[in-house]
Amino acid sequence: MVTAPHEGRIPLLELRDLTRSVRLPSRDMLHILQGIDLTVEAGDHVAVVGRSGSGKTTLLNLLGLIDRQTGGELLFDGKDVSRLSDARRARLRGAYIGFVFQQFNLLERRTALENVMMPMMYGTARQFWRRERSAMEMLDRVGLADRAHQLPTRLSGGEQQRVAVARALVRRPRLILADEPTGALDVTTGEAVMALLDEIARDSDAALVTITHDLQVAALSQRAYLLDEGVLHPVTSNHAREALSATVGIRSGRREVEDLAEAGVGASAPASAGTSAPAVEASPRASGDAA
Ligand SMILES: Nc1ncnc2c1ncn2[C@@H]1O[C@H](COP(=O)(O)OP(=O)(O)OP(=O)(O)O)[C@@H](O)[C@H]1O
Ligand SMILES: [Mg+2]
Repeated sequence: MVTAPHEGRIPLLELRDLTRSVRLPSRDMLHILQGIDLTVEAGDHVAVVGRSGSGKTTLLNLLGLIDRQTGGELLFDGKDVSRLSDARRARLRGAYIGFVFQQFNLLERRTALENVMMPMMYGTARQFWRRERSAMEMLDRVGLADRAHQLPTRLSGGEQQRVAVARALVRRPRLILADEPTGALDVTTGEAVMALLDEIARDSDAALVTITHDLQVAALSQRAYLLDEGVLHPVTSNHAREALSATVGIRSGRREVEDLAEAGVGASAPASAGTSAPAVEASPRASGDAA
């Protein structure tokens, strides 16, 4: 049975005909993102794959309220956030959005615990007073309670990324944005980190948007999109499948795009990237056959 899982609910994120262009020193316009339509609901896990330079980080920066679009609309929780001041956007970002980066971005001179506590310094009074306890709980959740007092340099890459995941999630964000979260990790470690991120996001009903070069990582999502020269295509569409299989550098070598589609990623996604696909039932997260 196919039902709209979130009928009547306001989507967490809604992008309508979103564009991002920049004027180059030559005075030419570079159209980095063109006409992006995308809806992300609470609990969604969306993956975006695309070759280097296709606009993935630019898109993530728009979703994360770091950058502003040059055209179209971006609604966060039903509200047009493009008109808000930088300060209001920063507050929204801190309260509702967690980031995970490829290079972990941990503070080197701070322990794992202090790193995870850091976002609580800017949280509500309640979050502030509970910061150590919340951070310890989160470190425990990622399996690192016993490493809480270590400096990041004493931790392995996978452990550092788990600390970064704990830091991203400690304020219970409603949206988690991950830019190549497994890019600096070996395959097995990357898969473990990704499965953990997916699981914690699901437990807290947060939405997860993962940018990745790795089709295996994308296969964990409910819906996958290809970003190709600034245009977003659902991976189920023929265009995306052709473009993906023709694209060197975003094939993991372990998984072909056909497998990705057959594994049910975006199985019932619509032909356009516009609506939130009721793909949830078709592709339960982290299903065993994704590996
Ligand atoms: N502020 C800017 N001024 C000029 N060009 C920009 C600007 N921001 C991004 N670009 C260009 O837009 C394109 C998309 O950049 P973006 O960082 O989004 O790519 P990406 O898909 O994340 O690539 P990668 O996989 O290498 O991280 C690139 O060609 C980049 O050089
Ligand atoms: Mg990038």
